Amino acid sequence: MEESVVAAVLCGLGAWLPPRVLTNEEIATRLDTSDEWIRSRTGIAERRVAGPGTSTVDMAVAAGELALASAGAGDPAAEAPAVDAVVLATATPDQVCPASAPQVAARLGLGEVNAVDVNAVCSGFLYALATASGFIAGGIARRVLVVGADAFTTLVDPDDRGTVPIFGDGAGAVVLRAGDADELGALGPFALHSDGALADLLMVPAGGAKQRRSDDPRDYFLDMQGQAVFRQASTRMAEASRTVLDQAGWTVGDVDRFIGHQANIRILQSTAKYLGLPQDALVVNIERTGNTSAASIPLAMADAQRDGNLMAGQKVLLSAFGAGLTWGATLLRWPALVGA
Ligand code: UT7
Repeated sequence: MEESVVAAVLCGLGAWLPPRVLTNEEIATRLDTSDEWIRSRTGIAERRVAGPGTSTVDMAVAAGELALASAGAGDPAAEAPAVDAVVLATATPDQVCPASAPQVAARLGLGEVNAVDVNAVCSGFLYALATASGFIAGGIARRVLVVGADAFTTLVDPDDRGTVPIFGDGAGAVVLRAGDADELGALGPFALHSDGALADLLMVPAGGAKQRRSDDPRDYFLDMQGQAVFRQASTRMAEASRTVLDQAGWTVGDVDRFIGHQANIRILQSTAKYLGLPQDALVVNIERTGNTSAASIPLAMADAQRDGNLMAGQKVLLSAFGAGLTWGATLLRWPALVGA
């Protein structure tokens, strides 16, 4: 008898945004910019800000609770949908040390589980999905909570019109369980890449081990070369997407939905163009969220699921690009989710 391949299967989804809305108009009262400029150059109308009193861990716990509930909602007879691992994608942990995933696991009452942070910035959620898939394929875990959460506004210089309009805060989460590669929801293959030689394009210079302290407060904020990042992002997401499509034996024409990292609507549109993907396959929620870094893909998934824009059986391509540089892609056939 042929042995079936153990795959990580998506079976729960949840997302959480902080209530405070920061509109383009409000930014324009403080900085030399306009609603028209921000909308036309980025597709963003508003973003959420976690603000004092709400941390990355708080947001991750809120999204994680919803994902766990969604994973348990399908089968009322099922035991409590506990997981045996938590992988948190974030570039903004509550503290530089320790990692935040153990605090998320403890706050969710998950016991002494395997819990680890993954930092691949805006590609973090894809890297976290791959890490969790590895735990499952390696027999290290059977069910994994994967969270993407970032309070990226804490890294943004409030006086920099180049970055303030772009970034927002939020969290999204999924539950992965061990299953078969031919099931709906099975993830993979993955393409994951990096180019550290271009780290300077998007970097917070101070606060880490290389430069613990700086007299210039701006060194603690994100320094971004927007145009260079823009060019890299579209081509790299298209390349990684092509790799996983080829590996899976899918054509671009097979793809029903493309859920790309929500950095800029123009980046998503040019990625689709490079790939030859129709624009109406794009899942876009950036207008309301801005760029939420590691949270962006699960937030876009949750919005699309809620709006009926993702149906069970649809072929879905995921791709992300971020600081590091890091980028990647994976795919799945969308599962029937309950309560997401
Ligand atoms: O997750 C990965 C993280 N980051 C990204 O993905 C960001 C990728 N990059 C981008 O999304 C875009 O490069 C930006 C949205 C950041 C900038 O858009 P752009 O079309 O590349 O604008 P630009 O940097 O070429 O600037 C065009 C002009 C400049 O003025 P001049 O030199 O032409 O007179 C800027 O000074 O727009 C000016 N500008 C602004 N004007 C009004 C830059 N920011 C603003 C602003 N409001 N907020």
